[in-house]
Amino acid sequence: MPGRSLLDLDDLTSSEIQYLLEYARRFHDDPPPRTLLRDVTVVNLFFEASTRTFTSFAIAEARVGADVVALPPGSSSLGKGETIADTAITLAAMGVRAIVTRHPESGFPYRLAESFDGHVINAGDGRHAHPTQALLDLLTLQEEFGKVAGLRVGLVGDIVHSRVARSNILGLRALGAEVTLIGPHTLLPEAMARDGVRIVRDFDAVLPELDALMLLRIQRERIASAVLPSLEDYARNYRLDARRLRLLAPHAIVMHPGPYNRGVELTDDVFAFSGWRYAQQVSHGVYVRMAVLDFLVNGVRETAGRG
Ligand code: CP
Repeated sequence: MPGRSLLDLDDLTSSEIQYLLEYARRFHDDPPPRTLLRDVTVVNLFFEASTRTFTSFAIAEARVGADVVALPPGSSSLGKGETIADTAITLAAMGVRAIVTRHPESGFPYRLAESFDGHVINAGDGRHAHPTQALLDLLTLQEEFGKVAGLRVGLVGDIVHSRVARSNILGLRALGAEVTLIGPHTLLPEAMARDGVRIVRDFDAVLPELDALMLLRIQRERIASAVLPSLEDYARNYRLDARRLRLLAPHAIVMHPGPYNRGVELTDDVFAFSGWRYAQQVSHGVYVRMAVLDFLVNGVRETAGRG
């Protein structure tokens, strides 16, 4: 019987998302005992580069007392023709209880979860999903504003290729935020509009309306693939700079999942902005990942417990 996995945020109910945010928030003031995941073996299986997600999962796993193995992609036998299913069966036979995985192919964690007798956590798959990033972003909003419901949150940039955007849209809607997607047609097709999610092309016009603005990374390869005419054209219309910062409401915050491209989706003025919350997002990643690991392996703790 496979364990419960977190492959995207629609694996969780709204109440479970709220529970995880509350549980994670408590770790901020009161670190958990290093026994929450005692005798639980976790494998970190990352096939794509990561600084924030890999490191914060590793820190979170250590802080809850898991036994952790990091399996570099070049060291796994997938490269020798072993199937995903056989890898899953092999790891389960060694007593591995959870796999945290990142992969450039959308859907890889789903195929792993189908064959793995344990818990799979998606740490980012292709363009599809990045659920723990969305949870840490939701925690950042909740810490800032006390609640997510009713917040007006804008996401600007390469929405169509962004797993961060997809998971955030699910989470923001589940908790009742109003979502505005901002960008050019080639990075943001009209089809992405839906109930509670509107599309705006005029960045300057929408800035004063937002409580929070999430910037997304613009990958330089989008120019090579002719999705964007030039970075200069993108910057003129959608880069956050000193002038655009002044258009934001006084209480508004700016977020970015990282890594950011200085001079492309933002200028250095953003780093001096009082509402810049990147560091808080990164630190919330550790709390959220501890909460997710404990929730999947041990279930809900009535007291959002202390092991
Ligand atoms: N936000 C994020 O996923 O960053 P990394 O690619 O460094 O993990």
